[in-house]
Amino acid sequence: MLHILKHPLLDSKMAIIRDKSTNTRAFSAIVDEIAMLVTYEITENLKTKEIEVETPFEKVKCRTLDTNIIIVPILRAGLGMVDGIRRIIPFAKVGHIGMYRNENTLKPVEYYFKLPEVDDNTTVLLVDPMLATGNSCNKGIDLLKEKGVKKIIYVGLVGCPQGIKAVEERHPDVEIYLVAVDRELSDIGYILPGLGDCGDRLFGTK
Ligand code: URA
Repeated sequence: MLHILKHPLLDSKMAIIRDKSTNTRAFSAIVDEIAMLVTYEITENLKTKEIEVETPFEKVKCRTLDTNIIIVPILRAGLGMVDGIRRIIPFAKVGHIGMYRNENTLKPVEYYFKLPEVDDNTTVLLVDPMLATGNSCNKGIDLLKEKGVKKIIYVGLVGCPQGIKAVEERHPDVEIYLVAVDRELSDIGYILPGLGDCGDRLFGTK
């Protein structure tokens, strides 16, 4: 199921990070802010349980999150969204998937995978800002499912029709959250109009 998050604050922040003149510092700060805002939406259906709390006046029944949440960024660009999500869900644990794209085949090559303990009550937020070919996302979901993760929510910034279709076809059970869906994928695997290479822009590597 695809969710495109629409909000004036998100739109304004996306305009800043799409702008090629936005520098590394501002780019990573805004991605962080977007990640915080997006977290509110992606967690709307998480399981809660009833607890009793004592106010200064009396006892009251409240609800609190009852989900083992694990944030799993796909390195490197996914790292740019982790702090923002953690600020909203401070008890979430963090796993990592290291993957790079073979520039010729555009296929993902895995070089690192570390995941905190998973149980039946685990929800993984798989984070990768750009849903381009969908290959990395699909590979990441494959790895998580092999480890027994039953509930996976993909969180990104910009997708394109090709990447969305690829993930929807292979993993129809995964919820996909994006802030924008762009026109197309270029011959060399970049989203157009997009925002460039997100990893490079986050970390100043180009
Ligand atoms: N990865 C990026 O960083 N940017 C794109 O446009 C596509 C994949």
